[in-house]
Amino acid sequence: MSQKTLFQAIKDDHEEMYEYHDQYKRAHDRNDVDAQARWARQLTWEIARHAVGEEIVVYPLMEKHLGAKGKQLADHDREEHTQVKQELYELEKLKPGTPEYHDLITRMMASLHHHNDDEEIKDLPLLEPAIGEEASKQAARSFKTTKKAHPGAPNQPPLETFVGFLAAPIDKLRDMFVQFPTEEEKEEAEQELEGKDHDAKAGREAESRA
Ligand SMILES: [Fe+2]
Ligand SMILES: [Fe+2]
Repeated sequence: MSQKTLFQAIKDDHEEMYEYHDQYKRAHDRNDVDAQARWARQLTWEIARHAVGEEIVVYPLMEKHLGAKGKQLADHDREEHTQVKQELYELEKLKPGTPEYHDLITRMMASLHHHNDDEEIKDLPLLEPAIGEEASKQAARSFKTTKKAHPGAPNQPPLETFVGFLAAPIDKLRDMFVQFPTEEEKEEAEQELEGKDHDAKAGREAESRA
């Protein structure tokens, strides 16, 4: 079970974005277009999933627990997400390895860095004490669940492409995530699994004896 607080879970994700961006930049410096495309793909999916997770889990908590200030912060964050999503759309139309592609990634990451800093410096330090440690850990687990979205994972064809994922309304994505088992349910299943051996050979033998 994840014992991370929401702050830690969000911060880890932000760090992951910067790491993927660094990898992309290194590939760019050595003119390796294939590697640029791969790291950019990793980066853009990470950003999109992270944004969706925040919109489903974090911003509603801010609105619920921080009153008018929370609503104002959440609205501002969602506006910035809209801008990043717009940039992700634009990026899909460009070709990795071109100057336009590189410039757009550079610009997008600069504004995203500022946005992420706001979350780390302004939003979460207000939210965490307002909800308390347990609720923060619970929110971190929910946040992790929302990040399950990846191509092919949800059996919903429009979401299989990156653009489809970006275009999906947040309500639809929220509905989709509640169809996954919760972390608690998965933990119970894991405990049940301990000591059990799903041995295929033994199963077949039992079958043939029956
Ligand atoms: Fe965000
Ligand atoms: Fe974030």
